[in-house]
Amino acid sequence: MDFSLTEEHLMIKQAAKDFAVQELLPGVLERDEHGTYPKEQVKMMGELGFMGMMVDPKYNGGGMDTLSYVLAMEEISKIEAAASVIMSVNNSLVCWGLEKYGTEQQKQKYLTELASGKSIGAFCLSEPEAGSDATKQRTTAVDKGDHYILNGTKNWITNGKNAKYHIVVAHTNPEKGHKGINAFIVENNWKGFEVGPKENKMGMRASDTHSIMFTDVVVPKENRIGDDGFGFKFAMQILAGGRIGIASQALGIAQGALERSIQYAKERKAFGKPIGEHQGIAFKLADMESRIEAARLAIYKAAWLKDQHKDINHASAIAKYLAAETAMYVTTEAVQIHGGYGYVKEYHVERLMREAKLTQIYEGTSEIQQIVISRGLLTN
Ligand code: CAA
Repeated sequence: MDFSLTEEHLMIKQAAKDFAVQELLPGVLERDEHGTYPKEQVKMMGELGFMGMMVDPKYNGGGMDTLSYVLAMEEISKIEAAASVIMSVNNSLVCWGLEKYGTEQQKQKYLTELASGKSIGAFCLSEPEAGSDATKQRTTAVDKGDHYILNGTKNWITNGKNAKYHIVVAHTNPEKGHKGINAFIVENNWKGFEVGPKENKMGMRASDTHSIMFTDVVVPKENRIGDDGFGFKFAMQILAGGRIGIASQALGIAQGALERSIQYAKERKAFGKPIGEHQGIAFKLADMESRIEAARLAIYKAAWLKDQHKDINHASAIAKYLAAETAMYVTTEAVQIHGGYGYVKEYHVERLMREAKLTQIYEGTSEIQQIVISRGLLTN
């Protein structure tokens, strides 16, 4: 087993770090305060190749492995998770879904634009009354021969306002349960497509989370992804891959909080010495580092399995569960280490703590990951 990173991996990690420090850090506090979308920075992420990292170069992607994506996600999330979630949804949920299951026509028309970052995509699954229980959604797509008529409302959609292309999951035959679900590519300028107000979130405030309403939207049949009835399995498989991205985001948030805590523990003095020399703080730092390392290894393993085209369901759920719980633990400890300074905005750790919370909720709550993990144990 070789744990070393290749030259190429190290270059990608450094490029992501440079971008994050130079382009994201200067405005991150202000964007968080005002909930301002990082428009220029997202454009730059596209130009730098961060929006379609794993896509085949013939569709304008970077042709990189999943570990490269994990490394870039970690570096960007250390600085601004609101930017990395935009990147993660585009890479893992949208581009990967289209590349894996789209038709050649869909790839030429949509993937080439999305992988280059010229446009971004969104993944519309959650609904006001169906988040975790994804089969209970009410959005319908009625088969009219050569097209479907789409009606319904989706909630909590990352990239909701700025995405040009949306992958929308809908019931085409509710009596068939999950086998009556399909996924479609929907363009944001089609008649009947409407973006709701932006959510005023606790953290990741700069990313554009909106509800989306569909009223009699005409969706051509060629925009269905996969065979009839494949939509639920499509969503589950894509989410399993997406969870590696969000796990990497949680890892970056935790790592960012640890690095800030180490720096603070060296500089801040109390009772005549740097606080890091007091065991109460030193033990916390050791605990934070150990948990982060365990999460990192679980993520790398899930990434490796994905590149081997092996089943990632179990490993990605473990990676996301471990990383999200670690991020919450580590950021809470980081605020504690910073004391009063941790509770104010300038020191960043309170923002990292707010960001960490979302990693326990979206792309499947921690409890959903536990369900996936335990079902794997009990049914195999
Ligand atoms: N890959 C392939 N097939 C899968 C699968 C997977 N990973 N998981 C389940 N399936 C299949 C099952 O094999 C089963 O098929 P058969 O009937 O043919 O055997 C079918 O799907 C139904 O499976 P379950 O009975 O296990 O389904 P369930 O209703 O019990 O749900 C669940 C399972 C894991 C709880 C699932 O509903 C789930 O993951 N829910 C969470 C959804 C979620 O993550 N939402 C987040 C929204 S997206 C988001 O946050 C994006 C964003 O903007 C950031």
